[in-house]
Amino acid sequence: MITKPIFGFSLLLFLSFIFNQNICYAQDPPSITGYTCNPNQFNPCQTYVLYRARGPEFLDLASIGDLFSVSRLMIANPSNISNPNTTLVNDQPLFIPITCSCNNINTTFGSISYAGFNYSFKSGDTMYGISTSKYQNLTTYQSVEAVNPTVVPENIDIGQSIKFPIFCKCPNTTSSQNQPRLLISYVFQPNDNISSIASRFRVTPQSITQINGNNTKILDTLFIPLSNLPNLTQPASSNTPPPPTPPATPAPVNQENDRKGTVIGLAIGLGVCGVLLILVLGLFYREKTVKKEGYSDVERQKSLYVGSKKGSFVDKDVEVNLLADVSECLDKYKMYKMEQIWEATDGFDEGCLIQGSVYKGTIDGEVFAIKKMKWNAREELKILQKVNHGNLVKLEGFCIDPKEANCFLVYEYVENGSLHSWIHGEKPEKLSWKTRLRIATDVANGLLYIHEHTRPRVVHKDIKTSNILLDTNMRAKVANFGLAKSGCNAITMHIVGTQGYISPEYLTDGIVSTKMDVFSFGVVLLELVSGKEAIDDEGKVLWAKINDFSEGSEERKVRKLQEWMDDSLLREELTMESVMNVMSVAISCLNKDPSRRPGMIEIVYALSKSIDLFTDDSEEGLSPRQVTAR
Ligand SMILES: *[C@@H]1O[C@H](CO)[C@@H](O)[C@H](O)[C@H]1NC(C)=O
Ligand SMILES: *[C@@H]1O[C@H](CO)[C@@H](O)[C@H](O)[C@H]1NC(C)=O
Ligand SMILES: *[C@@H]1O[C@H](CO)[C@@H](O)[C@H](O)[C@H]1NC(C)=O
Ligand SMILES: *[C@@H]1O[C@H](CO)[C@@H](O)[C@H](O)[C@H]1NC(C)=O
Ligand SMILES: *[C@@H]1O[C@H](CO)[C@@H](O)[C@H](O)[C@H]1NC(C)=O
Ligand SMILES: *[C@@H]1O[C@H](CO)[C@@H](O)[C@H](O)[C@H]1NC(C)=O
Ligand SMILES: *[C@@H]1O[C@H](CO)[C@@H](O)[C@H](O)[C@H]1NC(C)=O
Ligand SMILES: *[C@@H]1O[C@H](CO)[C@@H](O)[C@H](O)[C@H]1NC(C)=O
Ligand SMILES: *[C@@H]1O[C@H](CO)[C@@H](O)[C@H](O)[C@H]1NC(C)=O
Repeated sequence: MITKPIFGFSLLLFLSFIFNQNICYAQDPPSITGYTCNPNQFNPCQTYVLYRARGPEFLDLASIGDLFSVSRLMIANPSNISNPNTTLVNDQPLFIPITCSCNNINTTFGSISYAGFNYSFKSGDTMYGISTSKYQNLTTYQSVEAVNPTVVPENIDIGQSIKFPIFCKCPNTTSSQNQPRLLISYVFQPNDNISSIASRFRVTPQSITQINGNNTKILDTLFIPLSNLPNLTQPASSNTPPPPTPPATPAPVNQENDRKGTVIGLAIGLGVCGVLLILVLGLFYREKTVKKEGYSDVERQKSLYVGSKKGSFVDKDVEVNLLADVSECLDKYKMYKMEQIWEATDGFDEGCLIQGSVYKGTIDGEVFAIKKMKWNAREELKILQKVNHGNLVKLEGFCIDPKEANCFLVYEYVENGSLHSWIHGEKPEKLSWKTRLRIATDVANGLLYIHEHTRPRVVHKDIKTSNILLDTNMRAKVANFGLAKSGCNAITMHIVGTQGYISPEYLTDGIVSTKMDVFSFGVVLLELVSGKEAIDDEGKVLWAKINDFSEGSEERKVRKLQEWMDDSLLREELTMESVMNVMSVAISCLNKDPSRRPGMIEIVYALSKSIDLFTDDSEEGLSPRQVTAR
């Protein structure tokens, strides 16, 4: 009834990857044990294998996904399958995403490139059988033996985990622009020849032999050089049950576009993983995630391999192109292993928790802040790549946990915690006026950078004192820690941010612009001056107060301000002029009309005036208390 699927192609780019500086030995003859690589010149890459659905066991994406440790959606998307719950037909082609890396076998033998997958042995399994049937000759049993040197092939226990090395290669992009971006692993089928393969993938036979040599044989793994992943034509799935999509979740196939649509303009400065989705979905699965953090290593490993079968709707949303998302950033950030993250945080021990889902962790003797998120990162990572400034918390690297669709962001650790904790009491010392001024200027500089020096402009959208961190020298860095947390209790469907800081035009109309950060920054200034929270216990916002200071005579304003100011500042000898100046900056930032708020350039300038006013008067005798970092 259903015809054998054929390949369809389109020039349309679906997923594209750029991998820098991977050097492979392109003309090595195919090897029985694997394809050698040079670990010193190799960066892991994302690529795909062509896999064919085969009955009876592998006619659904979940069971195939389990073999390759990916979710159904991660196969469905690149394979042009709209319903991940669909029943496949024999020989239906699928693209399965893998992460290819160069792995040392032993010193005499050297290294081979592969993507390793643990397979738990069942009764009747053999290394040869699994290599040739389940993994369809994408590896060889000789190679399985080589990567499992301690395993005796004839004596494998049921349930024992054996690593299967799926052959792969990464392109050599150092040399010229003509290099392919992607080398797909494809097993030379008995009825194939090089020209038939070439025409299926719309490449030249020469380009295939250039990579694979002239002596390729049937059942060798060939690497097909492609610039984009081709578009597979799938059989119409008449036998597919109706999608189990719960209300309010878009069909998976459209998610990419939908999400882009939503994310445009909603760029969240330093946030990486899909902040937007977190805020919406967070409501649903946050509880679940938090509970899971406590489970044991063994359970975690287990869940890594059974996870995709759960198929809850959350999976669908967050697992989209999990691996694809990171590919463009591979060269810029360090990629950590899940084990490293696990170790660094003592298995996500409560004692390592800083706040929300941010943990303190030590990797190789260096301390980092590790943030756990659901992965959904493409737009945000693009932003982050462009952002590098001393007043912004720096991302050092990340780690992905594909099975759980988690992503861990590894940030520089900023020692002195959040500005919120300093102003609102958790810290014993009080900040001096001078320190406060400098913090304000630091934050303004950080915002100036993301507003003016990134293209396209970046809007942080969640500026608040708990997202401003202080280092040992009490210099401020903008971060977004805690956003996911505060987002969960705040927000309506499309509004993200924090009560008390959200600008009126964003709250009512959802208008996003740099001026909404200016507004939030105005609130931060008010907190710095008053020592009061952005929103009080009764839910009244701090910024509603500003009218008190913009009316009446100068004397009245000064008096009002003195009544309102942080007590600890009153005990300090400072000029009211400097404080008044900061207040006037705050008031202009808090203008209800966004177009009448100043830009960050003007704010930085105005604040520097405040610093001048202050230092002129305080140079002699009145040295403000220095806050010493612990
Ligand atoms: C495949 O091609 C169709 C039209 O030719 C296009 O709409 C679709 O987005 C493409 N899908 C992928 C995955 O490239
Ligand atoms: C595969 O199993 C080995 C040991 O059995 C383990 O160290 C490794 O972390 C596992 N790989 C993955 C991806 O879980
Ligand atoms: C893999 O190769 C073996 C022979 O080496 C063959 O019998 C088997 O059918 C092949 N498997 C697939 C899925 O092509
Ligand atoms: C290195 O690995 C190869 C391939 O598995 C094996 O043949 C060889 O004996 C190993 N050499 C040593 C020293 O372990
Ligand atoms: C890969 O790049 C290296 C360094 O640029 C170059 O020496 C080598 O010839 C390249 N290999 C191929 C097959 O292009
Ligand atoms: C390759 O296979 C196709 C059919 O699949 C056939 O028409 C063609 O002649 C073959 N070419 C070579 C060089 O064997
Ligand atoms: C393959 O053969 C062709 C012609 O037979 C030759 O021009 C080419 O250099 C060969 N390539 C390799 C990698 O041996
Ligand atoms: C994707 O698959 C559908 C059938 O599921 C097919 O109609 C469509 O042509 C495919 N897209 C492309 C570009 O091949
Ligand atoms: C997928 O479809 C099968 C029927 O083929 C159904 O039993 C199963 O519940 C569906 N899975 C989900 C996650 O809805």
